[in-house]
Amino acid sequence: MSSANQQRENWGSRVGFILAAAGSAIGLGNIWKFPYIAGEHGGAAFIFIYLICIAIIGLPVLIAEILIGRTGKRNPVGSFKFLSKSKIWTSVGFMGVAAGFLILSYYIVIAGWSLGYIIEAVKGTFYDFNQVNTSSSYFESLTGNTTWTISFMLLFLSITMVFVYFGVQKGIERGSKIMMPVLLILLIVSAVKGISLPGSDKGISFLLEPNWDLVTGNSILVALGHAFFTLSLGMGAMMTYGSYLKKDSNIFSSSLQVVFLDTIIALIAGLAIFTVVFATQQNPSAGPGLIFHTLPIVFTKMSGGYVFSILFFLLLSIAALTSAISLLEVVVSYFVDEKGWTRHSAVIVFGGVTFLIGVPSALSFNILSDFHIFGLNFFDLADYITANIMLPLGGMLISIFVAWVWGLNKSLVELKLGAEGLFENYPIIIKFWKIFVKYFAPVLIFLVLLNSLGIL
Ligand code: PHE
Repeated sequence: MSSANQQRENWGSRVGFILAAAGSAIGLGNIWKFPYIAGEHGGAAFIFIYLICIAIIGLPVLIAEILIGRTGKRNPVGSFKFLSKSKIWTSVGFMGVAAGFLILSYYIVIAGWSLGYIIEAVKGTFYDFNQVNTSSSYFESLTGNTTWTISFMLLFLSITMVFVYFGVQKGIERGSKIMMPVLLILLIVSAVKGISLPGSDKGISFLLEPNWDLVTGNSILVALGHAFFTLSLGMGAMMTYGSYLKKDSNIFSSSLQVVFLDTIIALIAGLAIFTVVFATQQNPSAGPGLIFHTLPIVFTKMSGGYVFSILFFLLLSIAALTSAISLLEVVVSYFVDEKGWTRHSAVIVFGGVTFLIGVPSALSFNILSDFHIFGLNFFDLADYITANIMLPLGGMLISIFVAWVWGLNKSLVELKLGAEGLFENYPIIIKFWKIFVKYFAPVLIFLVLLNSLGIL
């Protein structure tokens, strides 16, 4: 054990861990991605499938991940090494660290746009837009400007680095405790505003009345893939956060709270966005540009839109920040635990490396837009490889590891620590968890993977 390990930090409080883990989960996935994929796949019907995926796969795998981390007390590579001597399993940890790098490298591009849009909102730029075309061409001119994209990407990454630099309690936990309540308040205010607009009821029905015609086999797979992305599963972020937990913490109830917060925030974000989209007669299935093209027009059409546009992009940036922090922490914890680096040098060096890997993603919207690998530009490729392949693969291997390699008996002993009485009173929880981790998760995720690879 390295000396760095002996002084390993812990969360200062139970709520600190829950807010940090919820901060990792709640991000661009909830506010940017979830509403537009729900819009593309038929609204309520898609949401219904997504909720089932979260319950039967997301929650059990989240518990498994936190459990490995708390037991291993290290980064993903070190935790697998602690629980199994086999190289195969340490390589699952490596894949997580690599995924952390890669996700962060394109995540900071969109997060940078969001920061840049706070400035645009303050400048009142959106009032020049009166239709989607002007709004989308303005968006394209900004993202097409390399200086604009790269500067905001760098600014966002630097803010992320500051939090990780100050460590688990002073940086991540303290930041989450301030940012998460602010995020929740901003989002609720936006949703209340959305609901109060005339014509918002159509947006509410879009979210509540299922339209099964738009649901295809692919929708189910998109829902499952998104369940992984939104809960930060399959790449060791939750494992790393779990490694800072004390043995007396109740993993089951903490996981349940994280899943609840993540899901409720995605639903409130959907409500906030679709009520305004319908109230102003915009297209709900506008795709990835929904937030950046459509919402700015929406803001100019509502009273108080100036203030709401600033608040909205602030909210999006905060959500992205608490997720980006967890991505960088996976990489940093690996170099601190396994290679004996100091936290400070790991943050500076790997923040720098992330920036370099992120540049081609940022340039995918301008000078490198015609540069394709397997038919995808750099940004889309990084997104595709991580969200559709690495995360589901990691999640499948994590559930196989816990159920079949480490073994359910040993893992249950660990799971019961800190949860005294809960499983005796509700043995059904254990029964379900066992079935889900052992059979449902590996098999269903395997199907998603085949689909991602175009085999199914
Ligand atoms: N869960 C984050 C989101 O919804 C993304 C993320 C994925 C963060 C994987 C960490 C690890 O935006």
